[in-house]
Amino acid sequence: MDLTGLVKRVAEIIRSSSYVVAFTGAGVSAESGVPTFRGRGGLWERFKPEELATPEAFRRNPRLVWEWYRWRMEIISSAKPNPAHIVLAKMEEKGLLKTLITQNVDGLHQRAGSKNVIELHGNIWRVKCINCEYRGRLNKPPSIIPPKCPNCNSPLRPDVVWFGEPLPRNAWEKAVTEASIADVMIVVGTSGVVMPACMIPWITKRRGGTIIEVNIKESAITPITDMFVKERAGRFFSLLEKELKIL
Ligand code: OAD
Repeated sequence: MDLTGLVKRVAEIIRSSSYVVAFTGAGVSAESGVPTFRGRGGLWERFKPEELATPEAFRRNPRLVWEWYRWRMEIISSAKPNPAHIVLAKMEEKGLLKTLITQNVDGLHQRAGSKNVIELHGNIWRVKCINCEYRGRLNKPPSIIPPKCPNCNSPLRPDVVWFGEPLPRNAWEKAVTEASIADVMIVVGTSGVVMPACMIPWITKRRGGTIIEVNIKESAITPITDMFVKERAGRFFSLLEKELKIL
């Protein structure tokens, strides 16, 4: 089937479904200029996760970890939502999408207007104290790093999930529930290899739901997809918007 045919078919499936959920990864923000993790030009090609995205790395060198997060915050703050974020938000507004589950920490879905967003890996703008219960939010990249806790003066860390850490319990439980209810899941721009987040589409599949995937190349989720659309997320969602007539 050509791209036009695929888009028409996806639109039909969405229109005839009762509970559509989206599951997104770094690829959805690639066209906004936010680098992905894996693949050519991905962050994990240039940086070592164990030096930057683990609790041990932060204990060893909080300044280095913060340098990296500050650099990413700068990219994210100048990035704008692309048509994929925007159309997903419009779909929710029109009742065509119930929930959006994301592995991204960039907040671009919310900036595009999505309301019902489950962030499995936290959010780059949130911070938490390594010592007390303090949690806060930054509105720009911090000028002094590591930023200090206003309560106890200990270093603050980004409130994101690092390797070896559990996912936020509430977010995970909600995501599992949504994935179990979904009769259709649209998987966008994820390599589908990071556990346990990558289990989400498998839950929908096991319950008999339909899996639609949009990615520029095949992923670990492709074997369970009912429809695979090999296309950039931004282009696909621009076409889908026209087909769904939600302009
Ligand atoms: P990855 O970087 O692993 O995968 C990005 C996916 O997006 C790949 O499958 C690409 O083919 C695809 N892609 C790239 N550009 C695209 C585009 N324009 N349109 C559609 N697809 C595109 O990112 P994630 O799967 O999100 O976790 O990674 C999962 C987790 O691994 C991240 O949340 C992060 C990382 O380590 C933590 O930091 C805990």
